Amino acid sequence: MNVVVMGAQWGDEGKGKIVDFLAEKAKYVVRYAGGANAGHTIVVDGKKYALHQIPSGILHPQKSVFLGSGMVIDPEALFKELQMLSDNGIKWEGRVFISDRAHIVLPCYRKMDKDRDAARKRPIGTTGRGIGTTYSMKSERDGIRLADMDWDERIADLDKDDRDFLAPYTERLLAMRVDIAAKMWEYRNENILFEGAQGAMLDLDSGTYPYVSSGASCASGASSGAGVGPRRLDRILGVFKAYQTRVGNGPMPTEFNASTESELCEFIRNTGNEFGVTTGRPRRCGYLDLVALRYACHVNSIDSLVLTHLDIYDSMDEIEACIAYEIDGKIVTDFPASIPALNKVKPVLQKFKGWKTPLSSSSSYKKMPKEAKDYVEFIESFTGTPVGIVSVGAERSATYCRIDPWGNKI
Ligand code: IMP
Ligand code: MG
Repeated sequence: MNVVVMGAQWGDEGKGKIVDFLAEKAKYVVRYAGGANAGHTIVVDGKKYALHQIPSGILHPQKSVFLGSGMVIDPEALFKELQMLSDNGIKWEGRVFISDRAHIVLPCYRKMDKDRDAARKRPIGTTGRGIGTTYSMKSERDGIRLADMDWDERIADLDKDDRDFLAPYTERLLAMRVDIAAKMWEYRNENILFEGAQGAMLDLDSGTYPYVSSGASCASGASSGAGVGPRRLDRILGVFKAYQTRVGNGPMPTEFNASTESELCEFIRNTGNEFGVTTGRPRRCGYLDLVALRYACHVNSIDSLVLTHLDIYDSMDEIEACIAYEIDGKIVTDFPASIPALNKVKPVLQKFKGWKTPLSSSSSYKKMPKEAKDYVEFIESFTGTPVGIVSVGAERSATYCRIDPWGNKI
């Protein structure tokens, strides 16, 4: 069975934790998009790990993980990450594989990425990891794939600096090379988890362009980026937080107002530790945007939602979420493509009663306070999508599963 875990907001929804949780019943984990711009935090036995390129399944000692064709691989950052795993006693040798169709990030791409954003009239706020440049080189048909690294004539086309950079990594990268399409076919009767990066609203096509990343963070990215046909994606899970965050520039219709809602913003940011894993930047925070979430559900065929960070609201008297946009005095319920329209949005908010209890002590969804379940069930009816998993803390144990995506009875 093939299960996709994608972000349903602007990234940082808690995909890493959910992939780690679901990986227990998967044989393989395949990351299908992005690169070292991503930051996935996972807490296991009180220990925190930050992963950027390695799929979050790596923390399960028996699992093999694949870096898919839709990813862009930064060799320097990759080997640093692998070293971090070794330093923490995690044996990764022999269970990390890279698609031979994945593209390679060269150091000059990182600089080009930053320079280009700095020169923009309206900068995107890139993480500066060379991601955008690598994907544009790929589209221009000038990129270097892992499969090209032992094509001597192609490597000879590169500048000396780039050749010198690649040389110490070449053998080690080639040792991890795999034909992912063949592997995915070979494993077609196994449980495979496909891990996305960033989120639906940062997807190059369906996101808030141009304020997006450059990879396919949408559900269909799992097909193209991992070498499996679209009809073989059995279930698509969309992960979202109980509120909204965004890092970098671009429209965020439900962002807290800096002057009137700064206290609420600080509370969410500090309680939810909303600081970028990759760049350390404070994340922009806001009300849960149900207009954007429903759009993400529709364009990605999300079968079930995974709600994370619900515990951040544990102490609040009242919670609000956005159920429509007011733009120039008109009520809008479909997510607009126009950036000026998105920048004009006044969110229409619905109030919910707080539960004033730590949800981590509920031990199951059923035992959660009624007010918390009312919030969850409103989201389900608004989006027309069931909430299959609710996460109320960083640890694996703080996860209440209502629908098992692998089809097992709960
Ligand atoms: P880039 O992908 O580094 O070029 O960044 C493009 C935009 O996507 C910027 O606004 C970044 O902040 C945002 N972005 C990229 N990766 C992530 C992520 O993993 N989480 C949240 N935002 C991201
Ligand atoms: Mg992140």
